[in-house]
Amino acid sequence: MLQHIEKIIFDEKVLSKAVGKLGAEISRDYKNKNLLMISVLKGSIVFMSDLIRNITIHCSIDFMCASSYEGGIKTSGVVKITKDIDIEISNYDLLIVEDILDSGITLNAIIELLKNRNPRTMKICALFDNPSKRQANITPDYKCLDIPDEFIVGYGLDYKERYRNLPFVGTLKKEVCQ
Ligand code: IMP
Ligand code: MG
Repeated sequence: MLQHIEKIIFDEKVLSKAVGKLGAEISRDYKNKNLLMISVLKGSIVFMSDLIRNITIHCSIDFMCASSYEGGIKTSGVVKITKDIDIEISNYDLLIVEDILDSGITLNAIIELLKNRNPRTMKICALFDNPSKRQANITPDYKCLDIPDEFIVGYGLDYKERYRNLPFVGTLKKEVCQ
């Protein structure tokens, strides 16, 4: 697997520091709230599991699965919600945890769905933001790191369902992802 990596963009140390800082910020902001963190599967699982361990207040978690990518490197534009949350959200302050906010098409569909269930508040937290690719009118309320306009893998992010288990974030060699 490692031989497929072209270059490392963020190593474990950088990721851990950025996620720790974000966890502290969220803990401060949600001190007097009823925090429910919703992880958008599958890409955000590594980020989510590191982030919740940096939250120092009570928080609940749930998971949702939606995707506008079909395993390749470009968005298909069609959003499929394949797993919904279990928790009734009207008493919660929602924080949607996403891996990359890219076109925003996936997140837009999720936001619309959850808005109809009247949560107390709803905010977005993204590990990475790629504003140059945005199509929907969304900006993250919290974000960890800015990324170059390149296709990246690792730390939960995949290419054709692989590389999610890399502890760092990097780019793939051209011959691997063409
Ligand atoms: P969008 O915002 O609807 O375009 O889709 C964003 C989703 O596509 C993210 O949550 C990721 O799962 C996936 N994605 C976008 N860019 C990348 C990338 O560079 N590497 C791996 N997955 C990506
Ligand atoms: Mg994804």
